Amino acid sequence: MTSIGPSLMCANMGELRDTIVRLDQAEADFFHFDIMDGKFVPNFTMGPDMIRELRHYTDKIFDAHLMIEEPERYIKVFAEAGCDMISVHAESTIHLQRTLNQIKELGVKAGVALNPASSLNHLDYVWDIVDYVVLMTVNPGFAGQKFIPLTLEKIKKLKKLIQENGNSIEIQVDGNISYEIIPQVLNKGADMLVCGTSCLFRKGESLEYSMANLHSFLEGLSKGNVANS
Ligand code: DX5
Ligand code: ZN
Repeated sequence: MTSIGPSLMCANMGELRDTIVRLDQAEADFFHFDIMDGKFVPNFTMGPDMIRELRHYTDKIFDAHLMIEEPERYIKVFAEAGCDMISVHAESTIHLQRTLNQIKELGVKAGVALNPASSLNHLDYVWDIVDYVVLMTVNPGFAGQKFIPLTLEKIKKLKKLIQENGNSIEIQVDGNISYEIIPQVLNKGADMLVCGTSCLFRKGESLEYSMANLHSFLEGLSKGNVANS
């Protein structure tokens, strides 16, 4: 089942509470929080206090994507702020297996995020503890970037590996997920769509209009079976 996850770094920071309530009512499946430290990626966004505050306004899944160096330092903070899922970049921690265990021990779903150029080999010895994989389809750090076509092959390869390992690991795609790209990534096996400026936070469109559009587009795809072929 394809899930829609608004990327809140693309929202109006002054209206986050209202945005979360409206998107919850418009049937968003999860909320994606891009956390940036200005070092792992050359940008800053939000932090655990903001997540803790927003936690009061929805019961939907909170998914924190830690684009930070040494994320192991902050797993507990984000878990206690109310995150249900936390992904860390394999490129950002020396001890990936230990960091993923740290997330699981807190009762939070553990994800591995990979930059576009990073190999799926990072997953070789953590299959048993990974709940989801975030495949960056743009170079991380900014909204409004261009999709990297080679990542399509990566989604397909990852889907095959998951099926061979008999796991129920979900594939999350993150970056320039547009109406043109969505059928392509679904065809390759993506499950969770991180929706930013490309398909959701669009100038001149209300959140409700964009979400309704997105839902009917996905419904049309599933009927046309394009996504499952
Ligand atoms: C990129 C972010 C993505 C992105 C999604 O670092 O992780 O969430 O902002 O938004 P668009 O659709 O603008 O790429
Ligand atoms: Zn992200």
